[in-house]
Amino acid sequence: MQHLHINNGTRVPHVSLLRRGIQGRFGLLTAMAAILVMSGCRQDMHNQPKMIPQRGSDFFADHRGARPQIVNTVARGQLQSDTYFYTGVVQGASGYREEKDQLPFPATMEVLERGQERFNVYCTPCHSRVGNGLGEIVQRGYKPAANLNDQVRRSQPISHYFYVMTHGYGAMPDYAEQLTPEDRWAVAAYIRALQLSQAATQADVPSGAQVRDLKDLAAEAGHADYAQPWSLPASTAVQALPHVNSEGNPGNAPANANPPKIVIPATKTAPAAAK
Ligand code: HEC
Repeated sequence: MQHLHINNGTRVPHVSLLRRGIQGRFGLLTAMAAILVMSGCRQDMHNQPKMIPQRGSDFFADHRGARPQIVNTVARGQLQSDTYFYTGVVQGASGYREEKDQLPFPATMEVLERGQERFNVYCTPCHSRVGNGLGEIVQRGYKPAANLNDQVRRSQPISHYFYVMTHGYGAMPDYAEQLTPEDRWAVAAYIRALQLSQAATQADVPSGAQVRDLKDLAAEAGHADYAQPWSLPASTAVQALPHVNSEGNPGNAPANANPPKIVIPATKTAPAAAK
């Protein structure tokens, strides 16, 4: 008798013999056997000899399907030899890592526009569009984000912003996942442009060009209120700590006028320590 070999090692009659059997007395029985044969084929399609991510494997001795990287090798496209571009720091003469006030590529208009677009997407919820650190999330109780236009932030080297975006800073999460290194540099470049725009003087522009005050421009457009520095609404912005510039509590955040009192209940006599 002809046999068809199936995965699990059992042998069942060949289909052509089965078909002959269907016409005979045991039609039903053989039809069921045929279904078995066909389901066997289907199983073959299910269990394809291919690798599925994170699935175990009998091929390798350690039974891991995902292979570890080979020591002392770099995968194609992962050689990050331009350290400054990828980290924002260089090895200083002192042996420590140092930030630099330099973009790793020219700041073209295209770069600044990309930076503005990414900044408006990812940074304004906390830092606001003008970078004063009082964005919508902060107005609803998040820790005030840094005022990017204050004296401290304006004097920081440009790669500091890259570093902050890459690693996060205090209460600020990092944006390494959302922004490629190129985008992070573009945002850093845009922060510089933003700072210049918020503190431009007549000396910054070629002679003949006019620097107009934002307040006047906003007033002319009928939005006088928007040109004023704004502060946090006292009702929603909950401040755990008073605003003390010298202690690093971010700028522009007014101390809560009525700081919530923490009431510690009077303790009864302390329970005797367990012996
Ligand atoms: C979820 C809110 C939030 C978002 C979004 C956010 N930040 Fe911040 N950022 C903060 C807070 C809060 C601080 C102050 C950190 C602290 O004092 O703990 C801060 C501080 C900073 C500082 C100052 C660091 C220093 O040295 O003082 C920079 C620069 C900065 N952020 C840049 C950015 C950039 C660029 C983006 C967008 C990619 C961004 N932030 C998005 C909340 C945010």
